[in-house]
Amino acid sequence: MTLTLTTHSVEETRDLGSQLASVLVPGVVIVAAGGLGVGKTAMAQGLARGLGVTGRVTSPTFTLLASHRANNSRGITTMLHADLYRTVSGEEVDDLAIGELVESGAVCFVEWGDLAPDVLGAQRIFVSLSQGELDDDRIIAIETQTTAVAEGAIAEALGGWSS
Ligand SMILES: Nc1ncnc2c1ncn2[C@@H]1O[C@H](COP(=O)(O)OP(=O)(O)OP(=O)(O)O)[C@@H](O)[C@H]1O
Ligand SMILES: [Mg+2]
Repeated sequence: MTLTLTTHSVEETRDLGSQLASVLVPGVVIVAAGGLGVGKTAMAQGLARGLGVTGRVTSPTFTLLASHRANNSRGITTMLHADLYRTVSGEEVDDLAIGELVESGAVCFVEWGDLAPDVLGAQRIFVSLSQGELDDDRIIAIETQTTAVAEGAIAEALGGWSS
């Protein structure tokens, strides 16, 4: 089942990311897809806020993978943030070992994760962002490939943005 949501501003996309944090558990990887400048980093910034990350979150386009200490009641101690835009092969992504890293109390938000979804761990939530009707509208489609987070819980947490 795909949950389809709409946001109308960058702040709303951040708020949606922050709300999504409230249903996550350690080990989950968010595989984010969508074109240049559509709002993946904005959503990651909201997720970071929801997970109690205090530092600044920017696109890790050149470092590929950033690690932020998180502070929340969900047992998530780290938010990893990857950006695969500049990676050249699935092997290079595999070397980042995201699936293993999240097993020690982390979650990971992967921008351009659709470029190598198969090496991003076993518990995945797919998020696809696209331009909506108005300039600042974004359509956000969410699909789970994990038993760790119930689709119903996501729908309930994000219901306010239902299209
Ligand atoms: N509803 C919205 N949600 C998110 N961003 C929006 C929205 N409306 C306008 N924007 C603008 O779109 C841009 C999104 O930029 P952002 O860096 O988050 O995109 P990105 O998908 O991470 O891009 P890249 O692929 O280059 O990493 C920002 O300039 C933001 O202000
Ligand atoms: Mg980005």
